[in-house]
Amino acid sequence: MRFVVAALLVCGCRGSFGEPPYAVVPIGGDPDRGAELIRANRCGACHTIPNVRGAHGVVGPPLTQFALRTFIGGELPNTPQNLIRWIVDPRQIEHATAMPKLGLTEAEARDVAAFLYTLR
Ligand code: HEC
Repeated sequence: MRFVVAALLVCGCRGSFGEPPYAVVPIGGDPDRGAELIRANRCGACHTIPNVRGAHGVVGPPLTQFALRTFIGGELPNTPQNLIRWIVDPRQIEHATAMPKLGLTEAEARDVAAFLYTLR
């Protein structure tokens, strides 16, 4: 009887230790949804973005290893809050930048930022 109980416990645990798909993101936001938003908003037309199919653009800088980047747009410290601001309205930060305002809400930008911070 004791053996049966142990076996049930082991079986009950199976499958609950799966690897999370991404590193823990400190800013909230949903990286999977962020990846979807990146595809839907065609960020990949201008940027090369790892793990996003078809994102091979060369107009803007590649977003490879973005989590390790020191600056956004070469001038803004790469913090989650600044990244969200940049994604919502890049021209508010750098008025002459070629990156357009794409109409993402702050909540959407948070999801996109959560995804970009998985790139390291
Ligand atoms: C029309 C082209 C274009 C599109 C579309 C575009 N970007 Fe950009 N992006 C740029 C350019 C150009 C820069 C460089 C800005 C600068 O330094 O002035 C840039 C810069 C950035 C940066 C800062 C990168 C760094 O290393 O400094 C991030 C992050 C970024 N874009 C994310 C996005 C996301 C997310 C989307 C989609 C929601 C997007 N971009 C859509 C052209 C674009």
